[in-house]
Formats: sequence, structure tokens, C-alpha cells
Amino acid sequence: MTQQAPPSGALAGQVAFITGAGSGMGAAFAHRLAADGAMVVVNDLNPNAAAEVAAAVGGDTAIFDVCDSTAFDGEIDKVAERYGRLDILINNAGIAPPSDPDRVQQAVANQMARMEGRIDDLVPPNSTVDLNDADWDRMIKVHLYGTFYGTRAALRHMTPARQGSIVNISSVLGLRPMAGALHYATAKAGIIALTKSIGQEVAAYGVRVNAVCPGWIDTPLLEAMDPMMIAGIVMQIPKGRMGRPEELAELVRFLAGPESSYCNGDVFAASGGFV
Ligand SMILES: NC(=O)c1ccc[n+]([C@@H]2O[C@H](COP(=O)([O-])OP(=O)(O)OC[C@H]3O[C@@H](n4cnc5c(N)ncnc54)[C@H](O)[C@@H]3O)[C@@H](O)[C@H]2O)c1
Repeated sequence: MTQQAPPSGALAGQVAFITGAGSGMGAAFAHRLAADGAMVVVNDLNPNAAAEVAAAVGGDTAIFDVCDSTAFDGEIDKVAERYGRLDILINNAGIAPPSDPDRVQQAVANQMARMEGRIDDLVPPNSTVDLNDADWDRMIKVHLYGTFYGTRAALRHMTPARQGSIVNISSVLGLRPMAGALHYATAKAGIIALTKSIGQEVAAYGVRVNAVCPGWIDTPLLEAMDPMMIAGIVMQIPKGRMGRPEELAELVRFLAGPESSYCNGDVFAASGGFV
């Protein structure tokens, strides 16, 4: 039997758990942490996507819905038991509001009317009035409940060990909410408050909790968005383009590792100047 070389890199020997890592930014985070030697557990709802990323980074999978607190507790406990430690948790799993072509058309018509000074012709978008309970619940649950469940489960291991780093993926929309995505923006703003509150609670006990607010990043999450809406958003980004998942992975890697030892309860945007 050939002997495996021990992992090398700044995160060698560390165990990282990343939610929603079967796609987009989560997958990029998995690759980035693994490149520095971390053993990565890839969570996702999609088993095939998770298996593919886990195979590529030499990690494990944990297939469950982050809204299921019992499953979250169980999988985190399992990882801590199997590897004897949990060093990093990235709460990243997320969903976007579905695209609504009629609403986009109406928004464009309203924009034209505004530009021409025809304020009386504006048609109310009624995004709030039309938002149903199920969509509101699911959005808040995946992002805010999921982040809380993960953080609570991880702290049960990290606080006694007096070490660990949790990175919560919020959004620029949590800092600068946008009409039409109120449940998403509300959930992401909640993640910022959660991060600051827990960051203060655990700061003196060796655990760090920070949040990242990505700007508009080119991932499958945005695939359902209307191209015209994307073009309108890119026009508002001073950098002139959307971000790439790998660009966010550098920031997350910094916050996950010992280099960010004085970051706690802090919030970092990477938005190409959007916020
Ligand atoms: N793409 C952007 O522009 C952008 C901007 C700001 C913040 N974000 C946030 O970044 C995070 C990652 O988004 P992305 O753009 O990489 O999206 P993505 O769609 O490429 O990846 C999200 C992953 O999360 C998984 N997932 C969804 N719900 C889940 C659940 N309940 N339990 C477990 N897994 C679940 C999906 O299956 C998917 O693999 C999300 O929290 C998103 O809100 C994205």
C-alpha cells in the first residue's frame, strides 16, 4: 500500500464544513480551503453536486437541508467525532427569489416613465403585497435559520476547544436592500446582526465569527435572472463587471484562517464598489 503524503499548507490538519458547497461560491470556498490543506466537508441539498466537489477536493459530503436543525446538529457532531475537531464553518447555502418576467417588463416600463418624468404613469410593483407566506418563510429559513442552526451546532465544539472560525455569507443586499427582494435582503441583514451579536459573545473564548457580503457574483444563483436586469445591475457596479467566485474565496480563506486573528463580529463586503 502506498503511503499518503501528509497534507501541507497553512490549514493542514484543519477540518472545514461548508454549506451549499455543491455549486458557485461554496464550491470555490471548498477548493480554496482544500488548496491550503484543510479537510473539507461539502454540504448541499444536491447529492451529485456535493459528491463531485467533495471528490475534487478529497473531502466528505453531508447531504441535508440547512433548515433542518436536527440534521445540522447530527452532521456537525458526526464530523467532530470522526475527525476529533471542527475548525472552520462557512454558512453559505442560499437561494434567490425566482425571476418574474412580467415584473421585469413592468420595472423597465416604470424606469422609462421615470426618465421621461411621467410619475403618474408608474404602476405599483406590489412585490410585498404579492409575496406569499411560503416564499417568505423559506427565504428566511434557508438563510437566517440555517446560519443560526449551523453556528449553534459548531459552537458546541468550538467554544470548549477555545478555537474555531465561522464565516457567514450575507450579501450587499443585507447592507443596501433593494426593492423587490425584501425577504432576501431581510434575511441577509439578519445574518449581519447575528454575526455581530455572536461574534461579541465568543470573542474572548478563542472563536471568531465574521460575515462576508458578496456583491453581484457570477454563479448559477443568478442564472434565472432576466439578462436585462443583470445588465442594469452591472451598469451600477463601479468595477464594471460581476465578481468571480474565486475572488470571494480569497476573502473567505483569509477570514477562515489565523491571518484574520483580530477580525471578530466584523462584516466585510467585496462588491466591486457597489456598496
Ligand atoms: N451570486 C451572487 O451574486 C450572490 C451575492 C451575494 C450573496 N450571495 C450568497 O452567496 C451564497 C452562495 O450563493 P451562490 O451564488 O454560490 O449560489 P449557488 O446557487 O451557485 O449555490 C448555492 C448552493 O446552495 C445549495 N442550497 C440551497 N438551499 C440549500 C439548503 N436549504 N440546504 C443545503 N444546501 C442548499 C444549492 O443546492 C446550491 O448548490 C448564498 O447564500 C447567496 O445568497 C450570492
